[in-house]
Amino acid sequence: MNLADLNKVAQAMVVPGKGILAADESSGTITKRFDAIGVTSTEDSRRDYREMLFRSTDAMTHYISGVILYDETIWQNAKDGTPLIKLIEQAGAIPGIKVDEGTQPLPACPGELVTVGLDRLAERLKKYYERGARFAKWRAVIDINAGGIPSMTAVGVNAHALGRYAALCQAAQIVPIVEPEVLMDGDHDIDRCLEVTTRVLNVTFQELRKQRVALEGMILKPNMAISGKKCAKQASVQEVADKTVRMLKACVPAAVPGIAFLSGGQSDEEATAHLDAMNRIGNLPWKLTFSYGRALQAAPQKAWAGKAENVAAGQRALNHRARMNSLASRGEWQADLEKKAA
Ligand code: 13P
Repeated sequence: MNLADLNKVAQAMVVPGKGILAADESSGTITKRFDAIGVTSTEDSRRDYREMLFRSTDAMTHYISGVILYDETIWQNAKDGTPLIKLIEQAGAIPGIKVDEGTQPLPACPGELVTVGLDRLAERLKKYYERGARFAKWRAVIDINAGGIPSMTAVGVNAHALGRYAALCQAAQIVPIVEPEVLMDGDHDIDRCLEVTTRVLNVTFQELRKQRVALEGMILKPNMAISGKKCAKQASVQEVADKTVRMLKACVPAAVPGIAFLSGGQSDEEATAHLDAMNRIGNLPWKLTFSYGRALQAAPQKAWAGKAENVAAGQRALNHRARMNSLASRGEWQADLEKKAA
């Protein structure tokens, strides 16, 4: 492992004013997104959609540092035969790859999941590196509910897998994005989310240390401390920002170059406002930016709707969301910028 090079990539992923486009939906997930906009999901339509995103020049050159791809996409070519991964490189962004293979029910823990995909991961990482991937992603999913979920078993096995994955990535000269996602489904309040996320982050960093992962060569992708979607009392933007930053300061060593949040089902504007409010707090030991999937893609998906004549509109929508989140990553976003663009 060359730690200096891993650190250089990690720093580039969170360079000021840029963040990550999570375009790594599995075929099942992207099919759900396409269903919602009335588009049939085929290899070609998925290719066309991702080609539209990666040819959004403004977003890709100014606001996006890296793109997380799904296995199908990393091997696909654009309509003119250019590998999709080359479009990303040509824009000056870094290609990355989702390497987990989804979740399975966790035995003896009803209702809980464990992320799988460690088998033959070393060989897969080698192939992805040769193809051009310089970072990877693995997502652990932790639910919250009143029936004793999450259990320490679920938190522990998922953290252990994140540690195994991260160590294998670094051995393959690939920067791991470590993503322990505490879901915002449910009716729990922000303090319950804060309590569970704190526990999850602490156990995850214990595992990373135990498994000798170099913190300088990784990126953390957490959820924010936020109210459950069905909670009657929704925390304000400032409360989310204050509690999330306090939690991260307590749990995430300063050696980690950056923290790139998932959006997790927040609306586009909420995800931007929360990131902005956190960056306005200032004096943070790590960069705080975005690694959004839905909060970057919902608008371009709607504008595109699967029609070739809407490609420019889809790209405008991505450019706009990427610019808003870029401003938020600097603490310079303002709500009226959204209205001007509308
Ligand atoms: P969302 O921003 O839609 O939560 O997706 C980010 C991601 O990569 C989840 O693994």
